[in-house]
Amino acid sequence: MNVVILAAGKGKRMHSDLPKVLHPLAGKALLAHVIDTARQLGAARICVVYGHGGEQVREALDAPDLSWAKQEPQLGTGHAVMQALPHLAVSSAPTLVLYGDVPLTRAATLRRLIDAAGDDSLGLLTARVDNPHGYGRIVRVGGEVVRIVEEKDADDAERAIHEINTGILVAPTAALARWLPTLGKRNAQGEYYLTDIVALAVAEGMPVVTAHPDANWETEGVNGKVQLAQLERIFQRNLAERLLEQGVTLADPSRIDVRGELVCGRDVSIDVNCVFEGRVVLGDGVRIKANCVLEDAVVGAGSIVGPFARLRPGTELGREVHIGNFVEVKNSTIADQSKANHLAYVGDATIGRRVNVGAGTITCNYDGANKFRTVIEDDVFIGSDTQLVAPVTVGRGATLGAGTTLTRDAPPDQLTVSRARQVSIPGWKRPVKKKKD
Ligand code: UD1
Ligand code: MG
Repeated sequence: MNVVILAAGKGKRMHSDLPKVLHPLAGKALLAHVIDTARQLGAARICVVYGHGGEQVREALDAPDLSWAKQEPQLGTGHAVMQALPHLAVSSAPTLVLYGDVPLTRAATLRRLIDAAGDDSLGLLTARVDNPHGYGRIVRVGGEVVRIVEEKDADDAERAIHEINTGILVAPTAALARWLPTLGKRNAQGEYYLTDIVALAVAEGMPVVTAHPDANWETEGVNGKVQLAQLERIFQRNLAERLLEQGVTLADPSRIDVRGELVCGRDVSIDVNCVFEGRVVLGDGVRIKANCVLEDAVVGAGSIVGPFARLRPGTELGREVHIGNFVEVKNSTIADQSKANHLAYVGDATIGRRVNVGAGTITCNYDGANKFRTVIEDDVFIGSDTQLVAPVTVGRGATLGAGTTLTRDAPPDQLTVSRARQVSIPGWKRPVKKKKD
């Protein structure tokens, strides 16, 4: 099967310098969602039709399994698919047409459409909607589809039809190659309408079949930021429901955002307003408290994170680790039962087991040009407000006194402290303001 993804539209209503299909939904470009769906269907060829801002789109998303067809100027959906024809394998019978700005179509829905059409029929994905305004209408006679009429070309009776063309269709590739060059543009918009192939199929006696999405959001497109935000919420709601079905406890399924892949063990609980980016893995029994941001991080079983914690890429927490409020961890491993409960920055560090990282501890990992590692061995106690100037190692069982600025390695099992001695000055008087006369 071939897949053609139409993505040449300008997307003016986004009011953005970024091409529409590159706007992210759940952290991934709209077009990337559609490409991934095409891949799930096992497409032999995937051709993206691009136009305005297309080079940027191509650079952002190019991959060995994609081909790119430029459409300039944009003369309509029929003209767009025609640009893709040279890239398609006629032998791999049908061609599925998707839109680059319709990101949430489920592969199962498309499978139904493809199966219904087989190799010899034209298949249309249609939907019944309350408000069909703006869409092409499916005109049936005696129950059979005879043509599609665009809103702007429709008469009153046709406008009253509530079955709409989602735009997604599948057709035998050889038939497309036959039909597309014959399309005219004598219609209200002066465009080559892909939808005109329906009447051509009917005239040839080719069966026209329909399939339908389970939910109408599957075929909704993004025109502006309002729809983008709506589809983002639908995506997140669906994802939250999947997590609940797997047994994850969500304090509020409408207050979690997953922009990537979240893998959860058993008995994981996630409080409100947490954001997960990239690939995050939470082990059995992990608790994520409110207002945390986790990106490309692994959290071991029984660990507790938050509230207000940030785990950045390369964070690996062992079992029963506690990361508390206003603690940031980056590119660091923290082994079993260690704790950093308050106000700390742990960057480029390797921390052993049962380590206590005191409030206000900072790994000084960056000298303005290079980054260095901090190594903290098992059973270390780090007093509050300590700076570890990397590269530096704290030996097993060592204690660092509060306020220490560690610039050399601390030996195991000893107290290391760098702090000016405390003095008290008897008879000292606080300065007072001079009285003006
Ligand atoms: C199209 C359908 C309409 C359907 C609706 C669903 C036609 C003639 N009409 O209408 O029946 O109900 O979609 O949303 O097909 N595009 C290009 N090149 C072009 C024109 C469009 O790549 O020259 C792309 C756009 O980027 C977009 C898609 O094709 O992804 C649809 O284009 P759009 O202008 O939104 O189509 P509609 O007029 O809404
Ligand atoms: Mg249009």
